[in-house]
Amino acid sequence: MTERHVTAHTLTLGVIGNPVGHSLSPQLQNALLSRLGVNGCYHAFEVKPNELEKAVRGASALGFLGLNVTVPFKEQVVPLCDDITHEAEALGAVNTLLFKDGRIVGTTTDPLGFLKPLEARGFELPDKTVVVLGAGGAARAVIFACAERGVAEIRLLNRTHDKAVRLVRRFRSLFPGVRIEAYPLLEWGSVSNALENADLIVNATSAGMWPHLERSPLPESVSLPRDALAYDLVYNPLRTRFLQQAEENGLAIQDGLDMLIYQAIASVEFWLSRQLGDWHGLARELRPGLERALEWSSGPPWSVTGKGKDK
Ligand code: ATR
Repeated sequence: MTERHVTAHTLTLGVIGNPVGHSLSPQLQNALLSRLGVNGCYHAFEVKPNELEKAVRGASALGFLGLNVTVPFKEQVVPLCDDITHEAEALGAVNTLLFKDGRIVGTTTDPLGFLKPLEARGFELPDKTVVVLGAGGAARAVIFACAERGVAEIRLLNRTHDKAVRLVRRFRSLFPGVRIEAYPLLEWGSVSNALENADLIVNATSAGMWPHLERSPLPESVSLPRDALAYDLVYNPLRTRFLQQAEENGLAIQDGLDMLIYQAIASVEFWLSRQLGDWHGLARELRPGLERALEWSSGPPWSVTGKGKDK
């Protein structure tokens, strides 16, 4: 890694959220900046719930290059932006800000962060059938990403069925060419129907996240289609109960840590306004350091930028 010296020209970056005490983002982002030879420094800032605007405008006034935005501010920050990208507008959430020429530009790295691990493993989305578990912000990003990449069908299951139904309505109007259906998660037959012939099953719920290690969004005795890929957005723990169930059924699995890393890369590209080249190579280099950080922790509820699942 390149040695860095803080000077008057050092770029200032960071994450704002509440809480941010256990955020992995400073470690991840500083490792990335260092690896890229960028003279920048990334910090975590805990912002009081009623001081979001002050914090954002203050960062802009101080000449910060940009910020990541995490829970609970990802929706509240949208009206503070002068411009937002198409993805952020569709999701109604921003997790990355760029301060440029006195303007505040917002985007979301969630859809790309979700897609890149699939690309890295050669999983092609067009014409596939995707099951999405959950109907919160993470699920919205997954649905958006999959629909944009031309999947044939999205089956949505959520503990609170009404929320899934509302999401279905919204995304059907955005993507009329994609078949999108809601299935009640609590009805056994409905779960089995939803999983039939699925190519990709994504856990976008927080079930199984530390400290609730024994929880899965799916019933224990569920039978999963063995040719599918099971993808959990949770990365603490890396091997969630959902991924264990998938392995027991012979499925290939993808954990949530790579998504977190690709989101960091996407943020830096956005801030620097230049292409960083070999994303997959960078992600492979960054992953071991984060795995060690997760191992060293006694398992606190890491709060990090954006998605993976982060509470
Ligand atoms: P995020 O923005 O991270 O997606 P969120 O908006 O709070 O977070 O959404 C959390 C999702 O996890 C929801 O879909 C939630 O289901 P409900 O809509 O029924 O609340 C889901 N979830 C949380 N705990 C769960 C559990 N134990 N089993 C199944 N789903 C769970």
